Amino acid sequence: MDIKAYWDKKIIDWENSIVKRGTFSAVEKLAGYFRKPLVFRAELCLKLLAPFINGKTILELGCGSGFFAFELSQRGAAKKIIGIDISPNAVKRAKEINAQRSVPAVCDFLEADASALATLPAADITIGLGFLDYLTQAEIKLIFEKNKSKYFLFTFSEKKFSLWRYVHILYLLSQRCPKHFYYTKRQISECIAARYGEIQFINHRKLSFCCVVHNLPRQ
Ligand SMILES: C[S@@+](CC[C@H](N)C(=O)[O-])C[C@H]1O[C@@H](n2cnc3c(N)ncnc32)[C@H](O)[C@@H]1O
Repeated sequence: MDIKAYWDKKIIDWENSIVKRGTFSAVEKLAGYFRKPLVFRAELCLKLLAPFINGKTILELGCGSGFFAFELSQRGAAKKIIGIDISPNAVKRAKEINAQRSVPAVCDFLEADASALATLPAADITIGLGFLDYLTQAEIKLIFEKNKSKYFLFTFSEKKFSLWRYVHILYLLSQRCPKHFYYTKRQISECIAARYGEIQFINHRKLSFCCVVHNLPRQ
């Protein structure tokens, strides 16, 4: 199974288990008890981005079925939010939800392997939550080389001692996830440094082993 097939099979269950809506498998129900950091991650990233989105175009890589894009569109008057995801099921759902919204023109969703695209859509801010985890370092470097936006915000799974990270490794093994990486801050810096200058990392107890990296202006 490749990463596209993996996420296409899993994404709806995975998302439902986080927001506790609809139906999801017993495994995802169990895993859902460990996913509070993902809720905190989304809230923190929304807070960080909200002051900068008015009139801006935002590109979200690994957008799933658009949960974050829709939330973000409610935190300010973004000009456009373009979501890209490798999973056809995720993009189909994102489009269906978007069509029912009062402002469907703000968000747009494309099905694609972001790491394989020759160019990325132009944007002011490029974001991705839980997206870098599924890319090799070479692929991350390429993403940052292709990325034309002035600002970015991504999260990654940090390679550090954490009991929850070991539980996460067991979960990935049990699910036969074909591709997943934990990175140190230094490894992420190496991928980004050639393209961007000063970058900031955010750790927080409630993020568990997740780390935020961005170059948004200091407030
Ligand atoms: C952990 S989920 C995160 C979803 C969403 N960003 C969130 O935080 O709820 C990772 C997402 O990245 C997508 N993805 C993984 N590799 C990708 C790639 N090369 N190009 C585009 N999307 C990718 C998966 O399909 C999945 O929807």
